Amino acid sequence: MTVHFIGAGPGAPDLLTLRAARLIAASPVCLYAGSLIPSEVLDHCPQGARIINTAPMSLDEIIAEIRDSHAQGHDIARLHSGDLSVWSAMGEQLRRLRALAIPYDVTPGVPSFAAASAALGVELTLPGRAQSVILTRVSGRATAMPETERLETFAQSRATLAIHLSIHVAAEVQSRLLPHYGADCPVAVVWRASWPDQQIARGTLADLAAIAASGAERTALILVGETLAAEPEDFLESRLYAGDYDRRFRPNGAEPRFPEGTA
Ligand SMILES: C[S@@+](CC[C@H](N)C(=O)[O-])C[C@H]1O[C@@H](n2cnc3c(N)ncnc32)[C@H](O)[C@@H]1O
Repeated sequence: MTVHFIGAGPGAPDLLTLRAARLIAASPVCLYAGSLIPSEVLDHCPQGARIINTAPMSLDEIIAEIRDSHAQGHDIARLHSGDLSVWSAMGEQLRRLRALAIPYDVTPGVPSFAAASAALGVELTLPGRAQSVILTRVSGRATAMPETERLETFAQSRATLAIHLSIHVAAEVQSRLLPHYGADCPVAVVWRASWPDQQIARGTLADLAAIAASGAERTALILVGETLAAEPEDFLESRLYAGDYDRRFRPNGAEPRFPEGTA
């Protein structure tokens, strides 16, 4: 029997992957991470499934639940919001399962930064402007940031920042980034990206604290960087699709690097 760790996506039930839906439907036990998982996702559970909200549970209690279900021979769907590769607390659960020799697999999900950029209709990496996206946060009550991962350090790159878990300290984020990105740098806040009550606010870094205060106290992502408000003349076209660019799938010129038919 297997514990299926599943990224349940940012909120919209139709942003669940097909694999996720299939695994949830095949698992008689479902553990889900609280209010960030919409009820429509839980509708994929088979009839009579044991469905448990783990928000009020400790890690010990969650592992005990998994161990008991495993002992009864049940597959388990373990749902976390967005994707599992960031801030999912999957690592500590996998460590316990490895120690207990309980098999598991991992199914990725749509992360919230992707849902937020889709809601804004922007590409976060525009040629000539930014070619990196830094997924980060500031220190919270539960988790301190490593000294080498300070906002100021990342800000020196002027890459696009996707700042999670930090909307409640937007004023602090603003004052720490101002010396690096400047007051005019575009910002956007997306609350509950892809949910029916999604909210979007755009502005500049000078407005960030006010923008954050204008929204309800809910799950939100802060995006900072020039790509958020780039005008057509502000960025280059990707060379990949340039008519004269010689590439394997579109050989071009008198002596193409990859003549047709070569691997
Ligand atoms: C515990 S982390 C989970 C991140 C998740 N694993 C992911 O892939 O996005 C929760 C934070 O992610 C961001 N977040 C998650 N879902 C979101 C959504 N639908 N809209 C905006 N931000 C979201 C918020 O910054 C929130 O504080």
